[in-house]
Amino acid sequence: MRKYLIAANWKMNSAPEGAFDPESPYQTHADVDVVVFPTYLDLRDCIEAKILSGPQYGHVEEHGAHTGDVSLKMCKDLGCLYALCGHSDRRGEHGETSEQVAAQVIAALECELHPIVCLGETLKEKKAGKTEDVIKAMMAPLPLESDLTIAYEPVWAISRGDPNTPAATPEDAQQMHALIRSMLPDDRKEQTRILYGGSMKLENAEALLGQIDIDGGLIGGASLKPDQFALIIEAASKLST
Ligand code: PGA
Repeated sequence: MRKYLIAANWKMNSAPEGAFDPESPYQTHADVDVVVFPTYLDLRDCIEAKILSGPQYGHVEEHGAHTGDVSLKMCKDLGCLYALCGHSDRRGEHGETSEQVAAQVIAALECELHPIVCLGETLKEKKAGKTEDVIKAMMAPLPLESDLTIAYEPVWAISRGDPNTPAATPEDAQQMHALIRSMLPDDRKEQTRILYGGSMKLENAEALLGQIDIDGGLIGGASLKPDQFALIIEAASKLST
């Protein structure tokens, strides 16, 4: 069985109160891998608190004239172990293409950061019946034979501060995860973890995580509430035993 991975995407928010305490829910867990993606400002504190963490984005080059950017290599040197690549905020707000996202995944692997690569369709694409084509196109340039994690995040399900945004139903999410798994190379199908992201919260975590092809969550809004986040990890832990 694949070990669950529960990742917190704090986006452009400060670390929640108490996040760096030794007993905080952001600390790694015996049964569940817990990873945090803070802003760059909180990365060092996460690492010093022994929280497994990584950048929400990193530049592919190691250093150079790229004002405002931080490289994946610099994050690795700081002590990061993971890197988030291709979040829909980056694709949407910064125009990152699937090829650029794949280049980030490759650069992350080269400096020994474990990439979690996000992909998912917008509402417009879903309504136009293009979901499968969109996923295929996003996966095509990725080095899927490598050790990476995929996060399926339907863009229409991402909460963006609205706790009433509906997540994908467990059945629909499972169908998409199975489709994504079917696109992996044969020798990576079993071990590659596919996380679900998009309004995962306490109320739906158990049902989503209970699906056979859902191996964890990439959690935004609910990850900023330590009590909720702790209970989601508990749900994953219970399902692992
Ligand atoms: P959400 O965000 O859990 O607030 O929907 C998920 C994400 O964008 O990674």
